[in-house]
Amino acid sequence: MIAVTGATGHLGLLAIKELLDKGTKSNQIVAVVRNKDKAQDLSSKGLEVREADYGNAESLVNALQGVEKLLFISGSEVGARIPQHTNIVNAAKKANVKFIAYTGILNSDSSKLLLAKEHQATEKMIKDSGITHAFLRNGWYIENYTERLESALQNGAIVGSAGDGKISAATRSDYAAAAAAVITGNTAENAIYELGGNAFTMPEFAAVVSKVSGKKIEYKNMPSGEYAKLLMSFGLPTPYAEALADSDVGISRGELYTNRDDLKKLIGRPLTTLESAVKKAVQ
Ligand SMILES: NC(=O)c1ccc[n+]([C@@H]2O[C@H](COP(=O)([O-])OP(=O)(O)OC[C@H]3O[C@@H](n4cnc5c(N)ncnc54)[C@H](OP(=O)(O)O)[C@@H]3O)[C@@H](O)[C@H]2O)c1
Repeated sequence: MIAVTGATGHLGLLAIKELLDKGTKSNQIVAVVRNKDKAQDLSSKGLEVREADYGNAESLVNALQGVEKLLFISGSEVGARIPQHTNIVNAAKKANVKFIAYTGILNSDSSKLLLAKEHQATEKMIKDSGITHAFLRNGWYIENYTERLESALQNGAIVGSAGDGKISAATRSDYAAAAAAVITGNTAENAIYELGGNAFTMPEFAAVVSKVSGKKIEYKNMPSGEYAKLLMSFGLPTPYAEALADSDVGISRGELYTNRDDLKKLIGRPLTTLESAVKKAVQ
């Protein structure tokens, strides 16, 4: 049995789709969800849906019974993830899970991003657990940018603090395909994948948006403190806004860039291009 955590999230749903497309039988997939009401579609496809909260250790042990391989999709509650992820790894050990594929962050070994800390701690706890694993170190999602295009198209500007830093972003569906390939394949023991797509800078991103939309869109760089304040003024919680602004500074230092082609190799097909992702978003 393969279990997928965060199964009702964007990446989880796409990973399950990829597993089914690759021929994994639905009754061989356990969807670990925090709210079964959100998972009716998964149940109707024949998956076993088990409810567990990352904050509830016992619920996780129950959810992982009989599971051989776990696609552990990192939680989304930034700042709360070390205790939550500790619960998942401990539960995997108690349930005798044989393999964990964990979705971390690109260049985790050297990353100074605030967001990297919880991923680095999680990789360490997985290593220390002794469970055979793979680290899927995902770069930025292209959707981080394409899902926020509305105001850019209205105002003619995309803002940030990333400077001219290169971003090896890829779509969630490409990362999901890589996750499905690793969890179903015979990959090397304790492999580390640095996963990213064809790199672009924010000025290049703005140029693609301009081309696709037919409107002149500029990239405006600003100091990270101002950018964090702007994000807060849009309603983002302070720690999250600060983490995003900090990530932009990391991008300007090249921390979300990779020249490795692990993603392309794993999925065995060309990656979704930035232009086609932008086209899909502005349609
Ligand atoms: N690489 C990037 O650019 C990037 C960007 C954003 C996030 N991420 C990371 O990648 C992960 C997957 O991305 P995504 O787009 O799929 O995020 P997402 O749509 O927000 O999905 C997160 C999933 O985690 C589940 N979850 C969160 N807290 C939980 C808890 N306490 N107990 C049980 N389940 C919990 C959510 O459950 P519900 O469905 O019930 O909400 C959801 O299914 C994120 O969680 C985050 O760690 C990466």
